[in-house]
Amino acid sequence: MIHVRNLTKNYGDYAAVRDVSFDVPAGQIVGFLGPNGAGKTTTMRILTGYMTATSGQATIAGFDIFWKPLEARRRIGYLPESCPLYHEMRVGEYLHFRAGIKGLHGSARRKARDSVMDRCWLTEVSRQLIGTLSKGFRQRVGLADALLGDPPVLILDEPTSGLDPTQIRETRRLIRELGKKHTILLSTHILPEVEMTCDQVIIIHGGKVVASGSLEDLAKQTGSQHVVVAEFEGSIDPAPVSAVPGVKEVTSEATATGTRLRIVAEPNEDVAARLCALAVECGWKVREVRPQQETLEERFVRIISRDEAPV
Ligand SMILES: Nc1ncnc2c1ncn2[C@@H]1O[C@H](COP(=O)(O)OP(=O)(O)OP(=O)(O)O)[C@@H](O)[C@H]1O
Ligand SMILES: [Mg+2]
Repeated sequence: MIHVRNLTKNYGDYAAVRDVSFDVPAGQIVGFLGPNGAGKTTTMRILTGYMTATSGQATIAGFDIFWKPLEARRRIGYLPESCPLYHEMRVGEYLHFRAGIKGLHGSARRKARDSVMDRCWLTEVSRQLIGTLSKGFRQRVGLADALLGDPPVLILDEPTSGLDPTQIRETRRLIRELGKKHTILLSTHILPEVEMTCDQVIIIHGGKVVASGSLEDLAKQTGSQHVVVAEFEGSIDPAPVSAVPGVKEVTSEATATGTRLRIVAEPNEDVAARLCALAVECGWKVREVRPQQETLEERFVRIISRDEAPV
């Protein structure tokens, strides 16, 4: 549904996006991840026709964004990073106006406006001036705008930024719901959210794609780490733990009542059992020993630090 090949964008001498290629299959929700300045917004702006690329190709629903820009744009709902909203307009009025721009007329226009206000929890502020809305509510207006006219492709640049925890949950639910009918490319820095919402991820760093695929693919590509977390009462000296066979790395931190060790272990080694034996030997009081799955966040940090940003 979204097809990107060798996309490059230079700002003067600086290459913000370098030879980026990826595909977003129809009906999937794909997380577009990367540290600040990685090139996410730049890529999204190019795909949505707000900016030209220096070179490369992209199609949306089969329409080339450079040769058939109107056809391509008609199929996209875009939530920009900072929404250019008209502050002196009321919420309902603004969405009505935007629906008109998107080619909706008469009762279809009113229906579309009311439906997106309902979906984005805006009905009760429909008469409020946009300029007087809080940041989170403005974000919702931007999302409602992207949904007008029910476009098959949604490109959402940090849809949950600025939202409160309840709204983050609601938005996540809404995105999952939208994912049943739409193809979605979304950027975010909230990685647990990606684990809960996305079918695939694309990680971009220094303008280049450094990893992509399903969460399982990513684990295979990066090799997953075996981690054991152990909590002890009181303060302990973790030095003997490093000598336990199978232990690759130990980090220690003080908790309110004791010590927590995070141990990276060799695969197929029963480090937890050896650790318990060591605790008995040293007279440490064990609170808890548990294996821990590596989170997407930990994996992300590992990928980003492995692939130093290309210069
Ligand atoms: N108009 C511009 N002129 C020059 N450089 C720019 C311009 N817009 C963006 N850049 C640079 O391009 C790089 C990529 O920026 P981009 O906004 O795409 O990053 P991002 O991945 O969206 O980051 P964030 O997570 O902070 O939103 C950055 O180094 C940025 O400073
Ligand atoms: Mg950005």
